[in-house]
Parts: sequence; structure tokens; C-alpha cells
Amino acid sequence: MPKIQVNGVQLNYVERGSGTPLVLVHGFPLDQSMWIGQIDALAADCRVIVPDLRGFGASDVVPGTATMAQMAEDLAGLLDALAISEPVVFCGLSMGGYVAWQFALKALALEKRHRLAKLILCDTRAIADTPEAAAGRLKTAEKVLAEGSTVVAEAMMPKLFAPATANEQPSVVESTRQVILNTKPEGIVAALRGMAERPDVSARLAEFTIPALLICGEHDSISPPAEMRGIAEKMPTARFVEIAGAGHMAPLEKPDSVNAAIREFLKQE
Ligand code: MLT
Repeated sequence: MPKIQVNGVQLNYVERGSGTPLVLVHGFPLDQSMWIGQIDALAADCRVIVPDLRGFGASDVVPGTATMAQMAEDLAGLLDALAISEPVVFCGLSMGGYVAWQFALKALALEKRHRLAKLILCDTRAIADTPEAAAGRLKTAEKVLAEGSTVVAEAMMPKLFAPATANEQPSVVESTRQVILNTKPEGIVAALRGMAERPDVSARLAEFTIPALLICGEHDSISPPAEMRGIAEKMPTARFVEIAGAGHMAPLEKPDSVNAAIREFLKQE
């Protein structure tokens, strides 16, 4: 897989297909492989670009704090390095969605609409952490530094999938666990600190005037459908799609349903 030096960091990415660029950004504490059900399937429709964020997968780990704005800036740099000047469709899941808000705010504030054509938010939130949640993340970060990535695997695994997925797709669940266990503790810690200080965008939803698609698994307990439907209602042009039978990892659990929603959205003017 190719790597590109961006903002002093080697970023790993996967690229397939041609046409409209579609950037797929993974959640925490995962990597590009969570889009395995999208990469080849959607490459028939567009140019799919799937990065590992700093600290994850085969990208460099930078100890410290990885803010959502820094990660968005990395991806803008990746697009520059790939000489992509046409409008992109930017899609992020959960933490990738936090990055998507920051990418979009910057693109819209700079009126660089050529950079952002459409936004897809999967299983994500608009609110910031409460002070208690932020403190909990920082505590988890200390534990990960002391005990390793297994701390986060144990905490996250029960929340990621719909109840039926564990029975019906055990290999999907197991490979996700392995991705978390293989993620370097410093990368996990930097992202935990970054998520703890992420801005609240819930009062700014009316500013996202570009076409938007919000996708949420029916059984998502981290960013539940009712919360995501509420986000969509406050965005001027957003459409909400609930994915039956999926949990927080909807693209991995129900790739055909998610791909159908994305394909339809790509076709819309
Ligand atoms: C994710 O899936 O990226 C995380 O659940 C996000 C979070 O912890 O807020």
C-alpha cells in the first residue's frame, strides 16, 4: 500500500477506481480495513481513497495529542499530495465523522467548496464530550500507556456490533478485535486526548449547506439512530438512512445496505 509524507507524518492509504474522489475515514481505534466492504464495491462508481489516520494502521504514530482538526488537515494534505483538485465526497465513521465535521467547517469557511462536494456521516455525533466523558477518556489514556491496547479492545468490543453480528459474522468481530490489539498504544492515546477536546458542532449544523447523508445502524448504542436523525433534521440538506440489523460498525456489518445508500447519494445532483 502506498504511503505519502504529509505534515511531517507518513500516511498510509488505499486507492481504487476513478472518477469522483470518495474519502472514507475510519473510526477509533481502527484503520482503513474497516471499509473492506466498500473499497472494491464502490471503486466501480468512483475513486475511493481510504487513509489510515495518524497513529493508526500503517501510518506513523505521533505521540502527544491528535486533534480532530489536525487529522482533517492531514487529509487535506493527502488530497493535495495526490493532486486532487476536483470536489471530494468526504465520509467518516464515528471518530472519522468528528474529523469530517472539521474538514467540512474548514472547507466551507474558506469557501473552498471545490474541495468538498458532499458529506457522509456514519454512526457519529455532533456534540462534544461532557466533562465527565472527557475525564474518562484521559483516564483510559493513562491505563493504555500502562497496560497496552488490550484495555481499549476490552472496553470497545462490546459496544461496536449489533447483537446478531457476533453470531452471524464472528470473523468480522474477531478481525476488528485484532485491529484494535495491533494498534500502537501511543496512537490510541493521542486520539483519546484529541477526542476529549473535540469541539461541539451541534450549534453549527445549519452551516453545513452542502448535500449530506447521515447513516446509522439500527442498534448503534454509541451514536444512536434517534440522535443522528436529530442531527440530520438540523442540517439544511441532509438525508437520514437507518441500516437495519447493524450496530455502530454499519459499513462492516451490512456493507450492501450501506453501499446502496452511498451509491444513491453519489448519483444525486
Ligand atoms: C469510534 O467508533 O470512533 C468511537 O466510538 C468514537 C468515540 O469514542 O467517541
